Amino acid sequence: MPHDTLFAEVTDPANRANPYPLYARLREKPVSRQSDGSYVVSTHAAIRSLIFDPRLSSEDLPPSQRPPTGNPFKDWIVNPIKNRVVNAHRPLIFRDPPDHDTLRGIVIEQFTIPRVRGVHREVEGIVGDLIDKVRGRSEICLVEDFSYPLPVMVICRLLGVPEEDEEQFQKWATVLATALEPDSRGDEKQRHATATAFDAISDYMRGLIREKRKNPADDMLSGLANPESGKPAMGDVDLIASAILLLVAGHETTVNLITNGMLTLIRHPQELERLREDPERAPRLIEELLRYEPPVHFRTRKALGDIDIAGITIPAGASIVLLFAAGNRDPARFTDPDRFDPDREDNQHFGFGGGLHYCLGAPLARIETEIALNALVRRLVAPRLLEDPPPYRPGASLRGPEKLGIGIERIA
Ligand code: HEM
Repeated sequence: MPHDTLFAEVTDPANRANPYPLYARLREKPVSRQSDGSYVVSTHAAIRSLIFDPRLSSEDLPPSQRPPTGNPFKDWIVNPIKNRVVNAHRPLIFRDPPDHDTLRGIVIEQFTIPRVRGVHREVEGIVGDLIDKVRGRSEICLVEDFSYPLPVMVICRLLGVPEEDEEQFQKWATVLATALEPDSRGDEKQRHATATAFDAISDYMRGLIREKRKNPADDMLSGLANPESGKPAMGDVDLIASAILLLVAGHETTVNLITNGMLTLIRHPQELERLREDPERAPRLIEELLRYEPPVHFRTRKALGDIDIAGITIPAGASIVLLFAAGNRDPARFTDPDRFDPDREDNQHFGFGGGLHYCLGAPLARIETEIALNALVRRLVAPRLLEDPPPYRPGASLRGPEKLGIGIERIA
């Protein structure tokens, strides 16, 4: 089907495997108006200036509107109440200051140093177990066998979700991740699935919070549910929204970073070998991955006032697409941007966004990915791609392979 704008081509699943040539064409105009009235921002300089601009609002989520079910009690009474609750309490990623800053401050307090250090041991244990499970096989699917289960297990342990509920959490996370995908919001079936999963996980969280108040433990949910006196606290609806956000924002993103990481390393065998020989290379290699193959390609905002930028005016009320992944490949900012170069010195990428909404889970994501990639290159002997490029999930914003088949000689 012909596309009326370049960005429409970006969102076309047929271009998911390699959107970078399209980004290069988009960068010819730092800010370009699309036929639907939105503005796509694609150069590093323009993204950088807008990401710190208080005239950009993150409260751009369309109001919750549950699709009709045919059951009058649900359609006229229950769902309108649920819609009102959801609309009044958005997770902090969809909020502006001052509420955003208050909620973010409360959540960040729970990422204590001992807790994040403790995660190290947990992650090492989970990673080891997941790799042990595929022993004896000559082919694996990295997504299914490894990248997908890992982050949900980690966030469950941090939050304090009982181990027996992790599998259910993984299912909810998968459905809810699409709520962060601006390009899937219009799909009625998807909206129904999201609303159902959202209700189920909210009920579950409400129960778990009650339990954490009765029997507090040393986990994040207990910390959030039992604030110290005199410290800022959040109401139950914000608490539930924050817990769900931690699960959703940290799941598919980390899955994609680990999967993109192995894909990129197998495509660059010299780098894979260097990492195997020297695990200390991981932190810099991960920064380069976040630039070169970022899990989050774009996020949207709303203009609160007229904004003059790069010779055009974005009018108040317009939707703005910050195309982080295009900024990451901008030759005006990075030397030889299409080259994967873990030794790159100057690497201020937008892999974790920037400004007020800079990723709150970045330290955790870095730890998980470092332990995962180091273990994978050490233990998967002679890895090779079974299909290149692999099939991708349809989302253009959270971009990553749906499957990654890897052939191996054995597990070390
Ligand atoms: C590789 C993994 C990850 C990537 C690439 C990533 C990327 C991002 C990006 C680009 C943003 C900015 C969103 C915006 O500007 O609208 C963001 C925000 C956020 N991330 Fe992550 N993320 C990752 C992992 C995690 C993890 C593990 C968690 C938590 C457990 C997490 C929690 C959050 C939260 C709560 C926000 C919202 C922050 C705010 O609005 O102030 N992320 N992330």
